Parts: sequence; C-alpha cells; structure tokens
Amino acid sequence: MVDLGIEVCGIRHVNPFLLASGPPGTNGKVIQRSFALGWGGAVCKTLSLDSSKVVNTVPRYGKLTARGRPGEVIGFENIELISDRPFAAWLEELAECKRAYPERVLIASVMEEYRKDAWVEIVERVQQTGVDALELNFSCPHGLPERRMGAAMGMDPEIVEEVTGWVKQAARVPIYAKMTPNVTDPTAAALAAVRGGADGLAAINTVLCVIGVDLDTLRPLPTVEGCSTPGGYSGPAIRPIALRHVMEIARACPGAGISGMGGIETAEDAVQFLLLGAHTAQVCTGAMLHGYEIIEGLCAGLAAFMERHGFRGVADIVGKSLPYFTTHAGLVERQRAARQGKAAPPQARDDLWQGDIAKETRGLLGE
Ligand SMILES: Cc1cc2nc3c(=O)[nH]c(=O)nc-3n(C[C@H](O)[C@H](O)[C@H](O)COP(=O)(O)O)c2cc1C
Repeated sequence: MVDLGIEVCGIRHVNPFLLASGPPGTNGKVIQRSFALGWGGAVCKTLSLDSSKVVNTVPRYGKLTARGRPGEVIGFENIELISDRPFAAWLEELAECKRAYPERVLIASVMEEYRKDAWVEIVERVQQTGVDALELNFSCPHGLPERRMGAAMGMDPEIVEEVTGWVKQAARVPIYAKMTPNVTDPTAAALAAVRGGADGLAAINTVLCVIGVDLDTLRPLPTVEGCSTPGGYSGPAIRPIALRHVMEIARACPGAGISGMGGIETAEDAVQFLLLGAHTAQVCTGAMLHGYEIIEGLCAGLAAFMERHGFRGVADIVGKSLPYFTTHAGLVERQRAARQGKAAPPQARDDLWQGDIAKETRGLLGE
C-alpha cells in the first residue's frame, strides 16, 4: 500500500487533491460533502468583505466541444465573479466545515481592493474561523480588474509583493498567492509573491478568452442581453499552458509549496503537475463537469501510478521531470551529439510537407 499523504507549507494533506476555488466550493455544505467523498482539501469560492458589490450575469458559462463529439467538453469559459454570498455567512460555514472535518485541508480564497486596511481586515476575520491557509486571489481575469482587483494586481509584480507583504504581517496561517497565466513571464509575479512572504503559489487561474461567436445571431458568447465580454478559459484545453506555467514557477521558486491546476480530470493529468513541481493538485472544471465523485478515480489512479514506479510517498514524485527541460539550443546540441558518427544526414527541410501532410505531421510528433 502506498501513502497518498503529503505535507505542504507545514500542513498535512491526506491526499494531494483539492477542489479549486469556484462553483465546487460555493458554500460550506458542498465543501463538507466533498470531504465526505474523500477530497483531501478544498479552496472555497473567493470571498470579499462586501458581497453586495458582486453582481453576476446569466448566462455566464460557455463551452468548446471536441469536433464531432458534442458531449465532450474540452474547454470551458466563465464570466463568473467571486462569491456573491454574504461574508458573515461564509465565516460561520468555514468554522463549521473545520469543526466537522478537522483533518481535511480548508483554504480560504480571499480578494480585496488595493487598500491595506481591507486586506488586513479580511485576513484577520477569516483566519479566526480556523482555516488552514489563505489563498490570495491575484488572478481573476474578468470583472474584478475593473475595480483594480484580481488579475489587475497579479499582472503587476510590485503590487503582488506589496499586498502579499500586508497579508503576511497579519496572517497566522500559511499563505498561497494564486497566479494569473495572462502574462508573458509567469515567474516575475511568482518571485514577487515569494519576496512578499508567500509560503506557497497556486497556478493557474483561467486564461483570458472569447469562447466563440453564435453563427445565427452573430453575437459573441456567452451572450448577455446581446453582448459579451472576454472571460476565463478552463478545462482540458488549458492543461498544456498550466503545465508550462507550473514548471516555470517551480523552477524559479524552489522553496515554495506549489498547488497546480488547469484541466485536471484524471490521476494521469494530476501526476503530470506533480512531476513538474506541484505538491498538490486542484480541480475546478473537472468536478463541475464530472461530479465530486471523480475523487475516487484520482486516488486510485495515483496509487496505481506510484505502485508502478515504486514511489512510496507523493513527495517523491514532486519535480521528478523538472531536470529534463533545457533550451531549444540544448536539444539541438543533444541531438547532434547523439547522431555523431552516424552516416545519414538530416533530411532536407524541402523534402518535408510536399507529400502526405498528415503523415509528415505524425512523423514530427514522433508517432
Ligand atoms: C465557473 C468558475 C468560477 C471560478 N471562480 C473562481 C474564484 O472565485 N476564485 C478563483 O481563485 N478561481 C476561480 N476559478 C478558477 C479555478 O479555480 C481554476 O484556477 C481554473 O478554472 C483552472 O482549473 P480547472 O481547469 O480545473 O477549472 C473559477 C473557475 C470557473 C470555471
């Protein structure tokens, strides 16, 4: 039997799987239900002090399905804001969750305006509930940036460092900074968060997108009273982007606890995040599309992977594939070295793409 537990930022997790902030953690009742089903932890939907400023639209979701397979959602857009439920109700529910499931990891996701007093107040009041950690939402890409919140902060390393520093002064529990992928260099804000005192980094939040345009009405989707606005892309389609961000952040911030997410639906998806440096794996869209019950397959699949490779603990998997990244020039150098002494010259580039294009593509994919 393998041990699925892992300790991150001083917090013991019974398994590395957490629900990510979003609809799966929309109130205390559903968080408790997920714990009963076996999730190692949950990050609640992001809270702010004054929920009356949060006004959601209907519809607020859109989906991209696999070509010819309308039942298979590969990408998901939302223009949902942070929680519109009262702060006081959340405080009660978080305390109740922790009382009912003391051994499960409960993380409060928080977001405030760019004011020190607001961040200090939300941290002090939320940590009194007994939550294990805080996740600072520096990354919601839509709606909140109009109030200089979310990704508007996360895109600016100086602000990330300053706000993380305010939180660190007030916090008695570990803090994660949740990073936006909507930047060119993901390491700049991650390093700034660590300088500000973040114990951990969570990545990624959603990728800014337009999911499509309705070809009957010619209106962009999701359409609210005839118009739309760019939203956050999630689900399997963003997994390769998320893996790259986690890899870069893990390499840049080796001491930080890293919680990886973006398109995780199966144990095999999650293990790839662990191999690239994440200590835990969060799931949002996967739970929305397939139900909380996927936790059973996540745990069973992780155990099977560990047994197959002889890993005794989850910590042994973390970062195992990181040493195998190099630059493109590094790859060319390795290839040249490997080919030394062999007679066949590389195929002339002009020979490619002139015949069966699908076959050539498969060849370049190494199939
Ligand atoms: C409908 C929806 C609402 C979300 N709300 C939040 C939120 O309130 N706070 C937050 O930090 N992230 C939020 N997220 C982002 C997720 O936590 C996660 O970072 C992102 O969706 C990528 O993971 P996934 O592909 O498993 O969904 C939301 C995502 C979705 C799909």
